[in-house]
Amino acid sequence: MPSLLQVSDLSIRFHTRRGVVHAVERVSFGLAPGETLGLVGESGCGKSVTCLSLLGLIPQPPGRIAQGEIRFGDLDLAHATPAALRSVRGRRIAMIFQDPMTSLNPYLRVGDQLTEPLRLHLGMDRKAAQVRAIEALTEVGIADAARRLRDYPHQFSGGMRQRVMIAMALATRPEILVADEPTTALDVTVQAQILDLMRRLQREYGTAVLFITHDLGVVAEFCERVAVMYAGRIVETGPTAEVFARPRHPYTVALREALPGLEPGARLRSIPGEPPKLIEPPTGCSFAPRCPRAQPQCQQPCELRTVSEGHATACLREQG
Ligand SMILES: Nc1ncnc2c1ncn2[C@@H]1O[C@H](COP(=O)(O)OP(=O)(O)OP(=O)(O)O)[C@@H](O)[C@H]1O
Ligand SMILES: [Mg+2]
Repeated sequence: MPSLLQVSDLSIRFHTRRGVVHAVERVSFGLAPGETLGLVGESGCGKSVTCLSLLGLIPQPPGRIAQGEIRFGDLDLAHATPAALRSVRGRRIAMIFQDPMTSLNPYLRVGDQLTEPLRLHLGMDRKAAQVRAIEALTEVGIADAARRLRDYPHQFSGGMRQRVMIAMALATRPEILVADEPTTALDVTVQAQILDLMRRLQREYGTAVLFITHDLGVVAEFCERVAVMYAGRIVETGPTAEVFARPRHPYTVALREALPGLEPGARLRSIPGEPPKLIEPPTGCSFAPRCPRAQPQCQQPCELRTVSEGHATACLREQG
């Protein structure tokens, strides 16, 4: 299937007083229409920075896209003008976060927040935008939607705010939804409801989803393909079932062992050792210092290479 989005060789650095942080290093992945790709890895490995770059939301400075491109139709989002990025953001690519209050304004009625992008991006008049907003709230399971448009965010519970944010993100019918840990802060029951809701809306509208999470159980359930990130790089990617059944990178193996059950919400056991500092990262495999199978050859740079249909690993030992 042709890609809707193609990220190629993307590197993102942050120039800080302590040095240059290599937050994202030569990352490549594609997203087909309607597909769900999970992005997993430990805290600080570059998941959020990767996502923010798709929306032109890397703070520059201190951030800088050092190389690579982000193809979306005839645009390169890595080098697009602020005006081009604004026309994409919230309309063709929408984002939801762990904390709904990063997207919702506490001082504005939910109805105004829902209708504004519809009027701005889709040119709807007040009446049409209101109809779509009621429809969007109803779709995400908020009862009495017409009345609730007049409420403020604090009048909704945590789970309900998450629903409002999803309604807001999907009301413009974006081609891509970027979901950064959208259910991490919720209890397990609400989390399951939100995932069901996202899956239903995704099927209905054919939205492609880039799903960021720590939770391999959620990935196993929700994502057709997965990309495993370690220290700013994708170290393994492929169909989720295949990657979890036959992981080809020792880091993925360690992640799998840290979460044997794969049920959503299960607690991750920690992997021994610490991820490398992203200031002056090693030139070879960055997992080598923690890797139980490391060998002298692992000091060489390692590229992601295909090992079987759609399945690639950056482990030199597995590349044959
Ligand atoms: N504005 C910034 N200035 C300097 N460094 C930054 C900035 N934003 C992110 N970084 C660094 O980039 C790296 C990647 O951060 P990122 O937020 O993408 O991690 P993450 O994988 O989303 O982690 P988590 O699971 O904790 O959300 C981290 O080392 C972080 O410290
Ligand atoms: Mg993050």
